[in-house]
Amino acid sequence: MSTFLFTVAAILLTLFIVWICGHTRKRKPGEPPLVTGWLPFIGVTKDYVSNPLGFLTETQKKHGNVFTCLIAGKYFTFVTDPFSFSSVVRQGKNLDFQKFAINFSQRVFGHADFNSPQLSGNYREIHSIFRQTLQGPSLQHLTQSMLCNLQTVLERCLPHEHDWLEEGLQSFTNRIMFEAGFLTLFGKEDIGFLQDHGMSGNRISMPKATQDFLVFDHAFPLLAAGVPIGLCTKAWRAREALAEELLHDELHRRKCISDLIQRRMDIFDRMLLDETGKARTHVCMLWASQANTLPAAFWSLYYTLKSVDAFTAARTEVNRVLLGQSLNNKDQTVYLSKDQLDSMTVLESIIEEALRLSSASMMIRVASDDFTLTLESDQTAAIRKGDYIALYPQLLHLDPEIYPNPTEFKYNRFLDENDQPKTNFFKSGRRLRNFLMPFGSGASECPGRFFAVYEIKLFLALTLWHYDLQLRDPDVPVVQDSARAGLGIMPPSQDVLLRFRKKQRTPGNEHKDTK
Ligand code: HEM
Repeated sequence: MSTFLFTVAAILLTLFIVWICGHTRKRKPGEPPLVTGWLPFIGVTKDYVSNPLGFLTETQKKHGNVFTCLIAGKYFTFVTDPFSFSSVVRQGKNLDFQKFAINFSQRVFGHADFNSPQLSGNYREIHSIFRQTLQGPSLQHLTQSMLCNLQTVLERCLPHEHDWLEEGLQSFTNRIMFEAGFLTLFGKEDIGFLQDHGMSGNRISMPKATQDFLVFDHAFPLLAAGVPIGLCTKAWRAREALAEELLHDELHRRKCISDLIQRRMDIFDRMLLDETGKARTHVCMLWASQANTLPAAFWSLYYTLKSVDAFTAARTEVNRVLLGQSLNNKDQTVYLSKDQLDSMTVLESIIEEALRLSSASMMIRVASDDFTLTLESDQTAAIRKGDYIALYPQLLHLDPEIYPNPTEFKYNRFLDENDQPKTNFFKSGRRLRNFLMPFGSGASECPGRFFAVYEIKLFLALTLWHYDLQLRDPDVPVVQDSARAGLGIMPPSQDVLLRFRKKQRTPGNEHKDTK
């Protein structure tokens, strides 16, 4: 019996080895160096996942600017030379972003398959809405709506007394930014409509929606790694709870819905998607609008409070812009035009520096055919159909040649000697076109990038204006949660305590700022 079992085991093992050999990829002429580790399928997954930046830096040293790695059964060709990033993003013909992005989003959010022939035509229309409603003239309207909503939320939360309060900085940021961002995109409850229909106001509980969002978002790294959402029960429940709030029946009861959401609703209605499917695409949009903005707002405020120089420069700038209007504005409402926001170059530099330090997104394209990629240096790399091409901008963001002392926060790194935005950064003596890429690049570049920066600017300006703020333990180090590396802005791995109180603003003490 044991001989029989031994023989069967030996045959199975031999077949397995033969299968592995048959499926082990060999580097073909013209292809980049192949880094496969020694385990089939798994390849270098462990090294990559445990420290993507360290792994890519080491591999770049060994193999040069282009190499292919086996990660979780897929072949990723990394292009690490920042001068060649535009060669990759310009390759729209051979490198597809949409198919990959839609498959991924369908799996995580459970919406319809927009790659299917019936829906892909409409998807192009849905995609074109992003730019039309998040940029250009619409951007101003959206920004003013965010300003108004931020003030509503802040006013409601503003302590009446002048005593110091304590709350986690991340909790403070999430609470305020989530609600204001949500109201800006999805509108406010239409109390008149609700009363006419015998319904009560406050149908959405914002603390619950925020909590559901955070629970879902927390599971995102697992979902991105391929774990089915059915196995992440809490995340699944949270996603479905959010979807219930975003059913078209619910949205019809709201007013001041953004153009972006209104136009998406109209298209989804025309496409005859089922109601839950429509709501899940809205959850996807909610996630895109908040998942990176919340941690980016956290780091922007955190670094401002941590650095005395940043704090002083930021407050001086906010006072310069707002002080004049507060004197003739009794109700304390803040007005900020686009020009005023654009003139806040210190806040802009703080935000860009915070994004540089905390962003770890990976840009992925799929090769739709075999083709030869020509890099900026005229080096070529043969790419196989179905392989992924990946850019990892964190390599650029933390390159000491481009950004001296790259892990240090320097509030004025993106300011020139006249305090205007600085855009000339160099590597090997050559000026870089792409020196900061938290929003990706090319056709898939984040369409919400201008709005995101305005949102965070407004958040900084209003909190610095209305509150005295301090970190309770400024010397306690805060580290980034690297579980999100590859997925966007990394949040802090734990919260830090913030002390805040309402600023005393009487005509005599307008200039008195306490930190
Ligand atoms: C600091 C905040 C934000 C960051 C760092 C960020 C970053 C990104 C990145 C890296 C991508 C993928 C780009 C690529 O692969 O090339 C992306 C896509 C996208 N983002 Fe943002 N984003 C932010 C805020 C927002 C906001 C506020 C909105 C909308 C209100 C938004 C809407 C989108 C959409 C719709 C896409 C998909 C674009 C497409 O399919 O072509 N993002 N974002």
